[in-house]
Amino acid sequence: MSLNIEKQMKAQLSDDILNALKLCSQTAAEHDFKIYLIGGIVRDLLLKRKSIDIDVTVEGDAVKFCHLLVEKNYCKILQVQSELKTAKAVFDGDVEIDFASTRQEFYPHRGHLPVVVKIGCSLQEDVYRRDFTINSLAMSLNKQDYGNVIDYVGGIKDLNNKKIRVLHDNSFNEDPSRILRALKFAARFNFHRDAHTKALQEKYITTQRHKDISWTRIKSELKQCFSLNSAKVYDMFLVNENYKLIYGRNPEIKGLEIKTLVDKYNPYYVWLVYLGTILNDANIIEQFCFTRSEKKIFSDIEYLMNNHLSMMNSNYDIYKFFAKRTTESIIVYYLLTQRKEALKYLENLSLIRVELNGDEIKAMGIQNGREIGEILDEILKKKLNGTITKKSEEIEFVKSKIK
Ligand code: CTP
Repeated sequence: MSLNIEKQMKAQLSDDILNALKLCSQTAAEHDFKIYLIGGIVRDLLLKRKSIDIDVTVEGDAVKFCHLLVEKNYCKILQVQSELKTAKAVFDGDVEIDFASTRQEFYPHRGHLPVVVKIGCSLQEDVYRRDFTINSLAMSLNKQDYGNVIDYVGGIKDLNNKKIRVLHDNSFNEDPSRILRALKFAARFNFHRDAHTKALQEKYITTQRHKDISWTRIKSELKQCFSLNSAKVYDMFLVNENYKLIYGRNPEIKGLEIKTLVDKYNPYYVWLVYLGTILNDANIIEQFCFTRSEKKIFSDIEYLMNNHLSMMNSNYDIYKFFAKRTTESIIVYYLLTQRKEALKYLENLSLIRVELNGDEIKAMGIQNGREIGEILDEILKKKLNGTITKKSEEIEFVKSKIK
């Protein structure tokens, strides 16, 4: 007898979501469509966890199905992808649902994005293109068996046994980003890879690495993994030698050390602190197509590592060395070199500011721009070594210069 989780849905999902799904169900019945909840949301319902996305798969054409919902005024379409025939729609109560047509995929080049070979295939065919058994569960939204879980691949058993298992032996060759997805799910749910999946992953990492893969997917998964700010994810990433996947190094750092610094100094790009300790191949960094601010972190790390001073004698030297660098890069520099000056900068020196500005000095009678710059720098030096602490003392210092 198949497992029915309608009760579970009622307990976990909001009334607005339940209503939206009922409207989908009614429309499917009226127009002879078969529709299913699919992937993460079914897994999360079974795990009694909150899910972020609601994915519905339509056996057939999901865009056509969405238009039927719109005709009845049940939702508005936000986005349509006409090649893949997917659509995002919003229902009452701001409930967003992603609709996808069932599809079969084929990977012509290993590690690259797949090519769709058939849209509107059976649910069973759609399920086989997926990553892990726990993500390949569907739940019927059809009137006759609403709430029934459809499990073609043993996903329920694996959920119960806390196992992450691929659907076939070629899975990591097709999409190596699944190696990082396994890490993400293992950390999130405290699951483990089954022995065969672990062996396939190790085989891929040691023998089948190649630089010609979809870096977009890898980047997206790295971002999700390391944004968790989890010491465990980082430690597992190193122990499983996942850094080899991105041609990185093993910096022999403990995740807890990174997490402690991240929690203390609050960098904006948490994930890049973790990644920054690992990536050191300029060609690979280029492949990630980082945004301008993300790139600055990597160029700052490079600057700090290449120019790092053997002696930083004064606070002023330390200040000048780090002043224009991102917090992320300074943390990475500390982790890689253990130079305490980096922490002194983050903790104390970076907070020190000259309070007077150029205009105020000008108003006191110094007109020459270069001279003003030099005075500001001298005040900074004095503030950094503690001989000046207050604005009134800065003013006195400028006055002494005028005399
Ligand atoms: N999927 C896959 N291979 C990938 C990415 C996704 O097979 N490289 C499939 C999985 O079946 C997954 C579904 O697409 O369940 C949706 O992907 P995504 O939203 O990334 O994953 P979720 O499982 O929904 O996880 P999350 O809870 O993080 O959203």
